[in-house]
Amino acid sequence: MELFQEKQYIQDDDFGKTGKNGWRSPANIALIKYWGKKAVQIPQNPSISVTLNQAYTETTLEWEVTQSPTIEVYFDGDKADSFLPKIQQLVERAKPYLPFLKQLSMKIETHNSFPHSAGIASSASAMSAIALCLLQTEIQLCGCRESAHVFYRKASFIARLGSGSAARSLFPGFTVWGTHTDFPHASDQYAVPLKQVHESFLNLKDAILITDENPKSVSSSEGHARMDEHPYKQGRFKQVENHVRSLHSALQQGDWKRFVEVVEAEALSLHALMLSAEPGYFLFNSQSMVMIELIRSFRAEYDIPVTFTLDAGPNLHVLYPETHKKAVEDFIRSSLAPYTRRIIYDRAGEGPEMIA
Ligand code: PMV
Repeated sequence: MELFQEKQYIQDDDFGKTGKNGWRSPANIALIKYWGKKAVQIPQNPSISVTLNQAYTETTLEWEVTQSPTIEVYFDGDKADSFLPKIQQLVERAKPYLPFLKQLSMKIETHNSFPHSAGIASSASAMSAIALCLLQTEIQLCGCRESAHVFYRKASFIARLGSGSAARSLFPGFTVWGTHTDFPHASDQYAVPLKQVHESFLNLKDAILITDENPKSVSSSEGHARMDEHPYKQGRFKQVENHVRSLHSALQQGDWKRFVEVVEAEALSLHALMLSAEPGYFLFNSQSMVMIELIRSFRAEYDIPVTFTLDAGPNLHVLYPETHKKAVEDFIRSSLAPYTRRIIYDRAGEGPEMIA
């Protein structure tokens, strides 16, 4: 992998050396959905997301160079051994690219800005925050400097090894992950920022309507796996090629009408793929359905470009322009709030930030 150069990481006199660093990294919401993968988190189709601002993970990493490495994880101050398997998996997968991990003990402390059970996919913010801490450790150990461009690209590559969608959390605004003819610099290995977005999308708003805080009945990993033999697989990949092109052009031209159409089509297609998988399943609920109808009626009545998307779960992300903030948020409070358990008002964000 050309992003990683062979370096003499650990010298004999490094044993016992310690250090600390920390990063805040945001969640992201996919507008074009990644659904189906090859090992290790290589997407079957390209995706486009928007990085959020209010929903983030803060992680600090204390490290020590040692002959017998251990990993400890704390969540909100309490030991969180249940997080260990995913972190260990990420570290194992990252070792070929960051060989110093073979001789590093780590104490990881992590905190989410949003409630753990809020139904927001926390793996993107969590895995991207850890990836950033690991790359910061590399810099601390070898004393080498890298351009921001290379640093974030490598962080995206490492984050992907932990959770596919985490690869997209490293950049501000809109992000593309996965190869597509419209994006000569895009890659399956890491995400890249989507440039030249029309100014009307730069302050995109996202109200996250939480209707259910329980774990999903079918995990994302299982959902991706059910795409392997999906009867509509080829049709889906063709559809996504067109959706990427359409969304890209809408984002460049400030075309909110097309943005609304493509984003909704993607959300519904993701859930249609779940319904038509073998065996089929569904992750939306009756509140999601009622709220979708209400959003469509509100849009038609007031001619306001408000749309929605859904992750692999029932919670709706309502997307709207800054210019219609008041009207849409009044509508959310009066008409949608009764169907929700809580609402997080978020927006397109600025990307990760170093905190220690
Ligand atoms: O990164 P994973 O394995 O949690 O998969 C994410 C899948 C979706 O959220 C449904 C779509 C996406 O692109 O984020």
